[in-house]
Amino acid sequence: MVTTAVPRDREKVAERLLLASARHSYDPVTAIDWDAPLLPGVPAAPLERTSLYGTELWKTLTPDQQATLSCHEFASIASVGLWFEIILMQALLRYAYDQNPYRPHTQYALTEIGDETRHSIMFARAADKLTGGVRYRPTKLVHQLGRVFKSTAAGPSMFASVLVAEETLDRMQREIMNDETVQPLSRMVSRIHVTEEARHVRYAREAVSRQMPRLSKKELAWHRSLTAVTSWFVVDNIIDPAVYSSVGLDPQYAASVARDNPHHRENRIWMAEKVTAFLTEAGVIAGPSRAIWRQASLIA
Ligand SMILES: [Fe+2]
Ligand SMILES: [Fe+2]
Repeated sequence: MVTTAVPRDREKVAERLLLASARHSYDPVTAIDWDAPLLPGVPAAPLERTSLYGTELWKTLTPDQQATLSCHEFASIASVGLWFEIILMQALLRYAYDQNPYRPHTQYALTEIGDETRHSIMFARAADKLTGGVRYRPTKLVHQLGRVFKSTAAGPSMFASVLVAEETLDRMQREIMNDETVQPLSRMVSRIHVTEEARHVRYAREAVSRQMPRLSKKELAWHRSLTAVTSWFVVDNIIDPAVYSSVGLDPQYAASVARDNPHHRENRIWMAEKVTAFLTEAGVIAGPSRAIWRQASLIA
């Protein structure tokens, strides 16, 4: 079923977003104290969000190792997040190329690109600091698929895939920013990102709601499948198996334990809960492509 939500005027939405951007934007280079030392033995996120939490393998780790793994997983999520932000920036630039630059809707697309350039630098610095310079990234295949996506994606599947990346990350970061027991660095990074992403989510949701009812049957099937597959690749890649080396575990073995961990599966569904509810209402998650979302552990 295609959305019943009435799309608001896109220029009015953009005007409000531009105003909010002018009032509440951060420059992470100066807003974060990059010289402050990390707190020893403190995780970057609540421990129960760690991919191995609750497994036998988790119990073999000391509290210090558990905190270290949490910092490396946060760094991996930030690194893969910034990889997707670079994809998004290119897709948004291609989108803006065809729009009227005098319109608030286009000007907001350009503003969002500005936000994302700052986020990517912030994520890179935070990941570098949390890991002592270990670089995490998606697999080579996914890196190449991202190259195709960033050069061709358009329409509702472009905005819907962006929403999945933004809203899953957002769910986790809202929890981190409110948790006083985690690293101040990951809290501040999360707080900045949550503030600015709320506007990006609003913009992309409006685009999805507006564009979906215009699709033909054939286009609908294409955009549904492409969103499902892209979302699977993105969420599947947020934890680089190399993170497990940080606590002396075999990356392939630990990744397989995480894959089979029911707690981790629940975390994925929890992270995707809000965005999958929206995409179901908007008609993006429907028909045969639902099976892909289930297979990806993004819906129950
Ligand atoms: Fe961002
Ligand atoms: Fe964003």
